[in-house]
Amino acid sequence: MTSPATAGQEAPPVAEAGTAGRSYPVAVIPGDGIGPELVAAALAVLDAAAAAFGFTLDVTQVSAGAGAYQRDGTAMTAQALETVRQARATLKGPVGLPEVRRPDGTEAGVLGGVLRGGLDLYAGVRPVQLLPGVPGRLVAEPGSIDYVIVRENTEGLYLSRGKAVGNRHAMSDTLLVTRAGCERISRFAFRMARQRGGAPADGVRRVTLADKANVLGSMYFFRQVFTEVAAEFPDVAAECLYIDAVAQDLVMRPEHFDVIVTENMFGDILSDLGGGTVGGVAMCPCGNLGDDAAYFEPVHGSAPALAGQGTANPLSQILAAAMLLDYVGEQAAGGRIRECIRAGLAGGAIVIKADGTAAGGPEAVAGAITGLIQRG
Ligand code: IPM
Ligand code: MN
Repeated sequence: MTSPATAGQEAPPVAEAGTAGRSYPVAVIPGDGIGPELVAAALAVLDAAAAAFGFTLDVTQVSAGAGAYQRDGTAMTAQALETVRQARATLKGPVGLPEVRRPDGTEAGVLGGVLRGGLDLYAGVRPVQLLPGVPGRLVAEPGSIDYVIVRENTEGLYLSRGKAVGNRHAMSDTLLVTRAGCERISRFAFRMARQRGGAPADGVRRVTLADKANVLGSMYFFRQVFTEVAAEFPDVAAECLYIDAVAQDLVMRPEHFDVIVTENMFGDILSDLGGGTVGGVAMCPCGNLGDDAAYFEPVHGSAPALAGQGTANPLSQILAAAMLLDYVGEQAAGGRIRECIRAGLAGGAIVIKADGTAAGGPEAVAGAITGLIQRG
């Protein structure tokens, strides 16, 4: 598998890989619902990888999310945010609980506004890969679905978070995209395509803009900026498709796609659609990257009904941890985790069920992966 965390960046952050005594300060947010059990599984895998590759992670636990909101009146205190800011990277579990809401009705425990917006982590990097042995509704070969959604993370419709305007008769959220925002996310997507092997169907390095330029002026604007940026990357194929068509194509011809770049809300929806084609969103990690900070998480929510049942699939969290290792410069260790996941799934040591849960839950899956890492 490629190194999805760093592929879109011009120069991956420099780490002292290969030298003795490598240590990385990492903040860890266990989150809500199934978050703590997923994060415990991911930390067990990270420990095994660190031991095998000769580095250490200096972990600071940070409480944030719906539980923190209930306790502190805020989903993330300024001190917690500072810990994340100081860390080299952050591993975050899913957060939020459906019953914990702000006075305006939106969920109080979610952290995207404070982390993605606050730290300017403009690229939501969401790899979608069909791995061997994972059951799905779609008839597709492992390897035939292997694309990355690059979700614009800081503007678009989500810029309206907490700023809806209206009264009891009507309510409006505004979608705003900027030239700078469209340029940097488009460039990020093209750089990522340069470092990948192309689309499964034809090996062509391709960036697809998923937009709605037939209806919305903001989207036509995004398309124009994307097309200008595309000219800087003549070695990468560029295409613009409407978002509704892309939704169909992700089911009917997923092998066509390599890198998909899109507006914030569209990226949110498409990434769950992609998850639905590869065994569920619990197979899907996300890296949130800016120019000098990053955090890594599953794409999905905290599934409180599954908490403590010993059934949750922790692979999204463990794949997010592997992306974190790529980001800090430990690509060999990140790659080894991905290899062991693939081997565990192919060999039956990790079993994902048709409903997206995992046999034995987070502990069994982490145990299988750490066993494979230790075996070398
Ligand atoms: C995601 C999640 C978040 C989002 C929620 C929890 C606010 O669905 O990361 O995709 O909508 O961005
Ligand atoms: Mn989502």
